[in-house]
Amino acid sequence: MTRADRPFTLAVLISGNGSNLQAIIDAIAIKQCSAEIKLVISDQPDAYGLQRAAQNHIPTRVLSGKDYANKLAYDTALMQCIAEAAVDLIVLAGFMRILTPAFVAHFPGKIINIHPSLLPKYRGLNTYQKALNSGDSMHGTTVHIVTSDLDAGPIIAQAATPITADDSEATLKARVQQLEHELYPTVIHWFAEQRLLYKQGTVYFDGSPLSKAINWSGTAPIRGRA
Ligand code: GRF
Repeated sequence: MTRADRPFTLAVLISGNGSNLQAIIDAIAIKQCSAEIKLVISDQPDAYGLQRAAQNHIPTRVLSGKDYANKLAYDTALMQCIAEAAVDLIVLAGFMRILTPAFVAHFPGKIINIHPSLLPKYRGLNTYQKALNSGDSMHGTTVHIVTSDLDAGPIIAQAATPITADDSEATLKARVQQLEHELYPTVIHWFAEQRLLYKQGTVYFDGSPLSKAINWSGTAPIRGRA
């Protein structure tokens, strides 16, 4: 069976609220994203995203870090779990574990992440506060391919919002997450439609290598790409 004869399948990895998971579920429901979530995996048993998945009849698995001797043992179990599900794309959506190089190497170019900053600015945590403290005029979110370097894989797409004088961490986060909820399902849809491809370290969009991030401006048409 070729890819065109079957749905484009996802495993979504979460640790908490799962608002991005919800956005993907909703986009699939209204056919704005032509994919199917085969499995949701959480490392936190009480992650609210697990309830969101269950409400939508999506199979869930909990792999709790404390049940494994070390990171390698955890990632081996995670690898098996995902390999059994045989999905096309592994979607990190607020999964708060750093994956081992062995895990990443097992699924080359098949793992994407959404990170709340305009990478390469502000890898790691507390990105909103870092942007506010630095007096930045813009903040945003980035979808990228996951490599073994934290938040440093090839960038696919970004969405940005201006920082206003009265912004707090909470107001900025709310606006950036709103952008995430449009951007992530859109990027997944592009993978499903094979408009996005990742080959040997290069991201291709509509057949051309991306030399800079696709600049997503919400529901408006895409402003520009390489
Ligand atoms: C998102 O803001 C994403 O950028 C980051 O983790 C957050 C997860 O939020 N990687 P949620 O669980 O999807 O609500």
